Amino acid sequence: MSNKHPEAYHPDPLIQIRDLSVDYITDHGDFRAVKSVSFDIGKGEIFGLAGESGCGKSTIAFAINRLHKPPAYISEGSIIFDGKDLLTLSDKELGVMRWSEIAMVFQSAMNSLNPVITVEEQFADVLRHHRGMSDEQARDRAEKLLDLVNIPRERLKEYPHQFSGGMRQRLVIAIALSLNPQLIIMDEPTTALDVVVQREILQQIYQLREEFGFSVLFITHDLALMSQLCDRIAVMRFGDIVEVNKAYQIRNHPQHPYTQKLWASFPNIHESQHGKTTDTTQEETA
Ligand SMILES: Nc1ncnc2c1ncn2[C@@H]1O[C@H](COP(=O)(O)OP(=O)(O)O)[C@@H](O)[C@H]1O
Ligand SMILES: [Mg+2]
Repeated sequence: MSNKHPEAYHPDPLIQIRDLSVDYITDHGDFRAVKSVSFDIGKGEIFGLAGESGCGKSTIAFAINRLHKPPAYISEGSIIFDGKDLLTLSDKELGVMRWSEIAMVFQSAMNSLNPVITVEEQFADVLRHHRGMSDEQARDRAEKLLDLVNIPRERLKEYPHQFSGGMRQRLVIAIALSLNPQLIIMDEPTTALDVVVQREILQQIYQLREEFGFSVLFITHDLALMSQLCDRIAVMRFGDIVEVNKAYQIRNHPQHPYTQKLWASFPNIHESQHGKTTDTTQEETA
């Protein structure tokens, strides 16, 4: 086990990723997109993966839940969750854990809602399939989930196109929460949204984490945004982790030259660091 980054480990881990390597089969041979990466996510922790586009963040996100598809394959490592190595579970065993223990919110998630069925039916699909709920139980649960993300209950009857982008992303987060997962992987969940809505959603994720105690793997290329939400941050470059530390250390005392370079690439660094940004306002509806 590599111990390049002592801060990568957590005293009370929910998931332990060790020496994880992921390759893509290409015409020019195998390309190693993730190079022997190790880190823990603590119970109730928000852990950030930062780094420029193409550094391997999404590849890690998919590999954790074994949702990666060919030409990607996991060439080495282990992913221990709840004492089990996810990489050695059968598809059936993993199928039980996926979504109910580890949920994912993708970058394009807000477009992943089914456009032809109502929000209520989308919740019901998940709750019936995984929990065997009746329509009535599912509606009850869906209403409570909408409360959590501040969407009025009566909007359950509406279709995805009737919601703004920010609201659609919050619906997807509510669906991800519906089975009470222990870990939520969020891959650029707010990248497509404007800054005010981004902030509102991050605040909501933070509050929900406080309330429910789940862990989050939060992925973005936006280090400034990330440093406001996360407990610890790993900075990636070319498939490797170059630095891991508490978010305030990454913000105030970045050690690795690459982390310093990433900060320098944000024009609004001072705004972001000192919280001088616009207050959250109501987002547009529908
Ligand atoms: N299907 C694929 N075939 C070959 N290489 C890929 C494929 N998908 C991603 N890659 C490569 O893997 C690397 C990591 O990609 P990705 O995990 O999507 O990065 P990030 O999410 O950090 O932007 C990139 O260099 C990308 O070119
Ligand atoms: Mg990505």
